[in-house]
Amino acid sequence: MGMKILLVGSGGREHALAWKIARSPLVERLWCAPGNAGMAREGKCVSIQADDVDALVRFAREKQIDLVVVGPEVSLVLGLVDALNAVGIAAFGPSRAAAEIEGSKVFMKQVLNKAGILTAGHGVFTDIQAARAYVQGQGAPIVIKASGLAAGKGVTVCHSLPMAMETLNRIMVQRELGSAGETVVVEEYLEGEEASFLVLVDGKNVIPLAGCQDHKALGEGDTGPNTGGMGAYSPAPVLSQRLTQRVLDQIIEPTVATLAAMGRPYRGVLYAGLMIDGSRIQVLEYNARFGDPETQPLMMRMKSDLVPLMMAASGGSLADCAIEWDPRTALCVVMASGGYPMSYRKGLPISGLDTVANLEDVQVFHAGTAQKGQTLVTDGGRVLGVTALGENATAARQRAYEAVRLIRWEEAYYRRDIGYRAVAREAEEEYPDQA
Ligand code: AMP
Ligand code: GLY
Repeated sequence: MGMKILLVGSGGREHALAWKIARSPLVERLWCAPGNAGMAREGKCVSIQADDVDALVRFAREKQIDLVVVGPEVSLVLGLVDALNAVGIAAFGPSRAAAEIEGSKVFMKQVLNKAGILTAGHGVFTDIQAARAYVQGQGAPIVIKASGLAAGKGVTVCHSLPMAMETLNRIMVQRELGSAGETVVVEEYLEGEEASFLVLVDGKNVIPLAGCQDHKALGEGDTGPNTGGMGAYSPAPVLSQRLTQRVLDQIIEPTVATLAAMGRPYRGVLYAGLMIDGSRIQVLEYNARFGDPETQPLMMRMKSDLVPLMMAASGGSLADCAIEWDPRTALCVVMASGGYPMSYRKGLPISGLDTVANLEDVQVFHAGTAQKGQTLVTDGGRVLGVTALGENATAARQRAYEAVRLIRWEEAYYRRDIGYRAVAREAEEEYPDQA
């Protein structure tokens, strides 16, 4: 008998996971809760929301699910994994206590400081007067973060003092982020190149995934407001083998050991957001889940079966596992609704996907889509993650944009420069004299 899997979530990350899980020879049935129009092609969607812990547990018991794979942080922070484990159901993802590494930026900073890991200097505030005084003393640029979960809206990089004061007002006076902003972390602005470093953890043992990088800013050249992520690629040229080993030894291992020593052993995927400046590596943030859109290129490059890896992470037996990767580059361009991350229209018909389906080494992962009769329509801010493999970043990027140009809807928006750092590095290697 094959395995029955329930995958929780409905974004591009979850479509990429569903696509990969559905290809495992171990899997007999896959359900997605609540899923999206793309995930409906990989498994059966059931309309249970990711934050409805009771209903998810009930469904998993009823269907005798062998493994629940938890995509979004909200389910983790609400204790879905604890609730499943309590009734004897295996789940991939950290417990509520371990997920606090993402759920509370104050807790994350405590762990980093306890483990002796380099991170931006900061202050923690619940009182606006004290926060204002601190910001005034530090000057701009400065970074203001809501401590709690804010669905990607919690971090503002403030380039001026007035902007910083306004941000404090929005979070602490107008309470735009609700209780997530009750406590605010004000942080030193760091320069450098960002990378996403994801590892599988079983409480103790660690296996790194391939390195990746994403583009969080809305505009070309990484300008404009932050979004959930406008594109990503793997491998990340900035993460050399030497840096990778250093991150494992000096950042990941001490974090995992510290969480275990605090009685919060971490199981699942741990995502470190790094800022790399020459030989200095600092942790910007931890996430308790896969990245979105990083997961889209990662799943296209992963050759190993993901399902036994997830079982091993949840069961404490990762020590004997290894992961094989496609040596090529995978690059994902996010196509978003015009107006995102502010207000945007929904329900616009999408065309061109049939043509793209025939392109080799291209996968279109759905995020905000819905099926309306025979028509696929937009249903969210980030709509599609068009992902392609190529011999290097330059080739992967060319192929991904070839596909993007075939896909249309009214007011579609995408960045035209995803992967520009990796592509520039390749050009430099090819024509060093012109660098
Ligand atoms: P986070 O959700 O904490 O990863 O923050 C979102 C984005 O804000 C990061 O990917 C960075 O681009 C930026 N950011 C966060 N913290 C800092 C910092 N201390 N210095 C500079 N940029 C930052
Ligand atoms: N791509 C950023 C994130 O998943 O947090």
